[in-house]
Amino acid sequence: MSKKKQEEAAEPIPKRQQIVLSGTKPTGENLHLGNYFGALRQFVSLQDQHDTALYFIADYHSMTSVRNGEERRNNSLNVALDYLGAGLDPARAILFRQSDLPEVTELTWMLSSVTGMGLLERAHAYKAAMDKGEEIDHGTFTYPVLMAADILLYGSHLVPVGKDQKQHIEMARDMATRFNNYYDTDVLVLPEPYILEDTATVPGTDGRKMSKSYGNTISMFGGKKQIKKAVMGIVTDSTPVEEPKDTNQNVFDIWSLFATESEREEMFARAAAGGLGYGDVKKDLLARLMDYFEPMRARRDQFAEKPAEVEEILRDGVERARALAMPILERCREAAGLGVPHA
Ligand code: ADP
Ligand code: TRP
Repeated sequence: MSKKKQEEAAEPIPKRQQIVLSGTKPTGENLHLGNYFGALRQFVSLQDQHDTALYFIADYHSMTSVRNGEERRNNSLNVALDYLGAGLDPARAILFRQSDLPEVTELTWMLSSVTGMGLLERAHAYKAAMDKGEEIDHGTFTYPVLMAADILLYGSHLVPVGKDQKQHIEMARDMATRFNNYYDTDVLVLPEPYILEDTATVPGTDGRKMSKSYGNTISMFGGKKQIKKAVMGIVTDSTPVEEPKDTNQNVFDIWSLFATESEREEMFARAAAGGLGYGDVKKDLLARLMDYFEPMRARRDQFAEKPAEVEEILRDGVERARALAMPILERCREAAGLGVPHA
């Protein structure tokens, strides 16, 4: 390592200056509690703690599952509305659409060329698709490379995600290290996942990880009827009302997402004493959940009436994203000997 690089490596970057980045695929599903508590809520808190936070709509990524252009466009607008409704503020965070900066696909290619097949074959998502016997396209196989390019193109330090995405960030670090080594550069920053322990894996109504692919979700912005049905359907054991309840059940875990520490202690004491019905816990959860998301729903509805304003926010966002990305991409090109040589 050169002396300059060593000095740089020795200087930790102050927290405020660390760049935060994350993305959401516009697959057309309603956001669920797992998405919110596992990822989106952290997007919101980090926009205040860091000078630069980028949140994008991963529309290129959705191409492996959504095969209709109009649908994708519509879904993408919906992710933008979810972001704005949840409290992402264009004054504090850069909101943009992945495909508005198509240069990310150039970095994807550069990274593809330093990524071993073995690394990609070990990806959980790919292995799961193989196990299910699904027909897998090349885009699905190389999904982690595009995701690495998303992260590395902006010099991101921190990536807020749920635990299921951790492996992808480790793969991005691997690709960055290889690229930097091959081309004797330090242009690519090694990112860290940002995963909160308490909400790393939010359970669904059946106790497995909440996920749209398991059909066990509780939606954030869905209709009250739909949400009620999901909440009332949370699986519990069959302990009679008068008897003490085991608080290690997902109904208590989900309820706890909406309660303070002292409320939680009180509820758990009631559960231990007996006389608490699961139906009452679910009713209370439903009321809390509706109240909690109400202001976000109202904000989302307001933006939904102004799609031109949302487009303007994304247009402004991509310009700010571009300003961060282009110098990094230029340095990658220069290091790899691509394009017109620099003087
Ligand atoms: P799904 O698993 O429902 O398909 P996505 O893959 O679209 O969800 O996830 C979007 C974001 O939400 C990712 O950062 C992911 O890690 C997070 N996430 C999804 N489900 C959960 C969960 N049950 N607990 C914690 N985080 C989650
Ligand atoms: N793969 C992520 C998901 O399924 C979405 C995503 C794409 C992403 N690119 C990213 C997340 C870059 C964080 C950083 O949820």
